[in-house]
Amino acid sequence: MTASVRDQVESLVLTGAPVPIVQAGHPVLRAVAEPYVGQLGEELLDALIETMRVTMRAAPGVGLAAPQIGIALAIAVAADAGTATAEGDDARERTPLAFRALINPSYELLGTERRSFYEGCLSVDGWQAVVARHRTVRLRCLDVRGHAVDEVLTGWPARIIQHETDHLTGRLYLDRAELRSLTSVGNLVEYWAGEGAPLAASRTLGFPLA
Ligand code: NI
Repeated sequence: MTASVRDQVESLVLTGAPVPIVQAGHPVLRAVAEPYVGQLGEELLDALIETMRVTMRAAPGVGLAAPQIGIALAIAVAADAGTATAEGDDARERTPLAFRALINPSYELLGTERRSFYEGCLSVDGWQAVVARHRTVRLRCLDVRGHAVDEVLTGWPARIIQHETDHLTGRLYLDRAELRSLTSVGNLVEYWAGEGAPLAASRTLGFPLA
């Protein structure tokens, strides 16, 4: 088991270039990822995280879980530059999230506030849907050197953490989405872009908001 995941990662990270992202329907996306307990060793773990970083950046995306490149380990990466605050009212609270690797992450829902926004997934290419998620979560994980992380996140960074951590338990955002909100990215741009909270989409497509 350990040998096979090592071999799999070794062949994947050989070039350091972006690797293919598996799409919905692949069994690995529905499996519970194995906790990371040193299966790769320090050097190979670093190489895997670097491959995940460049794959996420090239996509482009703001998060990527190891199962999305076919590796069933509880590892994810995330990074978001955030959005310009020129408009002054960023309903999504899309504040910058510095690049980080999450090893064996879990989150706890804090408070009762939920927010509904469109989100997408690199493994469900070309589509987005509205998901109501907790505005604030407490993240617990290990960093790449094995140090414990315990951090409270709010707004878009909290959404990213929930989405990526869910991948490691075999969940896709569609499992939590309002299915009537489902839109191709083309139609999102044509009809619903520029909206912070998806109020018009909610009324027109017919789905509730949190
Ligand atoms: Ni995803």
